[in-house]
Amino acid sequence: MARSGPSACWTLLLSLLVLIGCIVVPGSTVKHENFKTCAQSGFCKRNRALADNASAQGASWSSPYELDPATIHFKDGQLSGILIKITSTNVKVRLPLLVSFLESGAARLVVDEEKRMKGDIEVRHDSKANKKRYDETEKWVLVGGLEVSKSATLNAQTETGFTKVLYGPEDKYEAIIRHAPFEVEFQRDGQTHVQLNHQGLFNMEHWRPKVEGKEEAGEDESTWWEETFGGNTDSKPRGPESVGLDITFPGYNHVFGIPEHADSLSLKETRGGDGNHEDPYRLYNADVFEYELDSPMTLYGAIPLMQAHRKGSTVGVFWLNAAETWIDIVKKSASFNPLSMSANSKIDTQTHWFSESGLIDLFIFLGPTPQDISKTYGELTGYTTLPQQFAIAYHQCRWNYVTDEDVKEVDAKFDKYQIPFDVIWLDLEYTDDRKYFTWDPMTFPDPKGMQEQLAESERKLVVLIDPHIKNKKDYFVSQELNSKGLAVLNKDGEVYDGWCWPGSSNWVDCFNPAAHLWWSSLHKFDRFKGSLSNLFIWNDMNEPSVFNGPETTMPKDNLHFDNWEHRDVHNVNGMTLVNATYQAMLERKKGEVRRPFILTRSFYAGSQRMAAMWTGDNQATWDHLAMSLPMVLTNGVAGFPFAGADVGGFFHNPDKDLLTRWYQAGIWYPFFRAHAHIDTRRREPYLISEPHRTIISQAIRLRYQLLPAWYTAFHEASINGTPIVRPQYYAFPDDEQGFAIDDQLYLGETGLLAKPVVTENTITTDIYIADDEKYYDYFDFTVYQGAGKHHTVPAPEDKIPLLIQGGHIVPRRDRPRRSSALMRWDPYTFVVTLDKNGESEGTLYVDDGETFDYERGGYIHRRFQFRNSVLSSEELGTKGSKTAEYVKSMAGVTVERVVIIDPPQEWKDKSTVTIIEDGARAGSTTSLEYYEQTGGKASYAIVKNPNVGIGKTWRIEF
Ligand SMILES: *[C@@H]1O[C@H](CO)[C@@H](O)[C@H](O)[C@H]1NC(C)=O
Ligand SMILES: *[C@@H]1O[C@H](CO)[C@@H](O)[C@H](O)[C@H]1NC(C)=O
Repeated sequence: MARSGPSACWTLLLSLLVLIGCIVVPGSTVKHENFKTCAQSGFCKRNRALADNASAQGASWSSPYELDPATIHFKDGQLSGILIKITSTNVKVRLPLLVSFLESGAARLVVDEEKRMKGDIEVRHDSKANKKRYDETEKWVLVGGLEVSKSATLNAQTETGFTKVLYGPEDKYEAIIRHAPFEVEFQRDGQTHVQLNHQGLFNMEHWRPKVEGKEEAGEDESTWWEETFGGNTDSKPRGPESVGLDITFPGYNHVFGIPEHADSLSLKETRGGDGNHEDPYRLYNADVFEYELDSPMTLYGAIPLMQAHRKGSTVGVFWLNAAETWIDIVKKSASFNPLSMSANSKIDTQTHWFSESGLIDLFIFLGPTPQDISKTYGELTGYTTLPQQFAIAYHQCRWNYVTDEDVKEVDAKFDKYQIPFDVIWLDLEYTDDRKYFTWDPMTFPDPKGMQEQLAESERKLVVLIDPHIKNKKDYFVSQELNSKGLAVLNKDGEVYDGWCWPGSSNWVDCFNPAAHLWWSSLHKFDRFKGSLSNLFIWNDMNEPSVFNGPETTMPKDNLHFDNWEHRDVHNVNGMTLVNATYQAMLERKKGEVRRPFILTRSFYAGSQRMAAMWTGDNQATWDHLAMSLPMVLTNGVAGFPFAGADVGGFFHNPDKDLLTRWYQAGIWYPFFRAHAHIDTRRREPYLISEPHRTIISQAIRLRYQLLPAWYTAFHEASINGTPIVRPQYYAFPDDEQGFAIDDQLYLGETGLLAKPVVTENTITTDIYIADDEKYYDYFDFTVYQGAGKHHTVPAPEDKIPLLIQGGHIVPRRDRPRRSSALMRWDPYTFVVTLDKNGESEGTLYVDDGETFDYERGGYIHRRFQFRNSVLSSEELGTKGSKTAEYVKSMAGVTVERVVIIDPPQEWKDKSTVTIIEDGARAGSTTSLEYYEQTGGKASYAIVKNPNVGIGKTWRIEF
């Protein structure tokens, strides 16, 4: 949930009347004046001016940074040296460079600033701010993958003025480092894929003393020492300290990633012109009220990972810096063929990255596939958390379910109308006077009774816990926060006070290790009274949102643990809260370890290890529905695939058609939750009149039916980082026509291709098919075939455009239940489609969906194949101490049906199949039924009750 009101309303927020007065009418949009444009951000403007200056000078521009050859050392896979810049005032700035060549094939380039003579830097530091460049982002972000390559070597074949390093698989990668001006080129197989400082925009604003009245030639000093925006003044005690670098992808026409923006999957150019943005993409986590679409404006989270893609190759970069960051993107016809302007002419994508403070810390990935980037990036920042099963089912939320009786009634109504759901959510208002870890005694007098009722059908409760703590003397959390000294401080070193939901508030500083211990203690069942083990946590407003702060967040000169300025850590701030909450959830009760579930609004690289995210406060409009797809896809490409958008739209009231289409789209979000603003009408699915109620129920049931496939896709994401829902380019990286498509998606490796309807009054839609396999309508088996073109498929309101590619085996569970946990012992149905060779393949991962036993082998992981008229199941996993126990618990779970779409003609005459299962049942038979279809629909065959064990090795012979 979000703040609801522009700045004029803030001071009066506590009055409900005024709160309603602040609610914005449909169609209103973001308050641009609350957020900086590049021209209003000092360092953005300075770095863009540098780029303008460089491009105005063209070939005569030369970067002033040089690598001093005398300082270069290469040892154990690492190259070090000192970059030198002579400033216009003749200061020789020394910047230590370290390039690490990693075992994974990634390279890491770090540039810091050497501390200079006393008096030069420290003289101006009357503030408490830490006196070095922030170098701890990695502490929160990186969890592995840093092993340095043993085989990386200096290439002896080199010219003067260059250092070359061979590295990567079979030494196929090469980093070519030019000394003066400093430039780095990364090659794979002799071809250049990534260039650093090729445009000469490398920039490290060195630390310098503040000298009154003294100006450096040609430089705009107006925002060096102080910057004012929207009535807030940032004191900038350390002066200018931004870092910038241009990164060129020669021959690459598409770049993806760098969420979070409400924009297309394929990122746009940002230097103006037709259809382009005027401003760079901005990463500065903020509570952007009524955010606008097709915009490079910042949103709630930031992941500075970019994939560049062309036919046959994907490469990537990861800019590890938690300060405010902007990224310019320009596409140019490739320099080696400037005259060729045809559609196939080579394009270079030139990107320009700059951050307000900290280090240059850049990872370079040379692919060559999108999957390689996902995997290598995941080794560094961690893979998606494998969630509990309930977390990937349907979540019912609104601001607010008003009493515990209300919650119980919603729970009962879902059952009455036979609509499954797993989780009901409580927004802010469940608390006593907006004090977290308490319940409103009037409206939630019996929280335990409420959770117990939910537990009867294994449902869960999620409650909101935010980082702002009501500043009130008699509130135990506030008392402890202050007495333990765990709050964020202002620039003068006093406890920072700002306005948020509870009015005057303080913020827990999760950069402080002591704050983690304390936060854990607050979540214990005996301290968060009334909470039971089926309660989970929603961390909202953690950008952090501060109603009266600059750009609705904290002042940049606030101080965190170790006197780091908020400026340095802003984008990672929200993740530190989630990290503390994750730990707290693990420690709630000794001996009862369940996988935590946390939803976060703010995020950074690494958040995927701990939480799910959603796209914040969207609106109930068709445009917002449409935008949810590229946003969710982009998050997947950026390594944080457990993502979703508020189904139905947060602000305003969707009409029945929009709500119906939103559910049909929402079942394809990895995180599937309906949510609504406090001023909207109630819209639980059972309240909608027919036929919409049935259509929505069927959509939700389709999600439940496919949960085995979803869980398997989550498992893949948790071990190799691949997106759970994938965009076209990711599934078909060699099909250029598909690269920009972002309105259809693939579920994992299942071959399921969905194209949610996101426009009004639609009765058909066009699905793009890249290859020449047959695709079958999921519901009636209509056949579509033809590579590289769009196919028109029916899409009336009761139909979800969903195809399944030939060559797959999709596991599902067809028995409707009240919640996903109640499906635990249900049998499976397999849907089989054959590829051109008459073969198919699929996988299934299943575990208890709750505990960490899977880390000790407590799971079933199978590969199914259809080949030479035999459908077989073989083991994929490796055994552990919990394997036998888990497999035994699943002994009664079998396959109850196999549906083969478009089977060989001769099966018409077959009536039985033979089953061979490990250990027993050698050669029993069961019936095969063939159903003939005509008129463009494929025939199908059904094997009834094969009853083979889901955890066993077996064959079905046709
Ligand atoms: C939380 O942060 C700590 C300290 O940076 C780190 O060691 C830990 O792995 C993080 N927790 C998770 C679940 O990523
Ligand atoms: C532009 O470049 C010229 C020549 O290198 C230099 O004198 C001037 O200071 C630069 N201006 C900016 C804003 O970088």
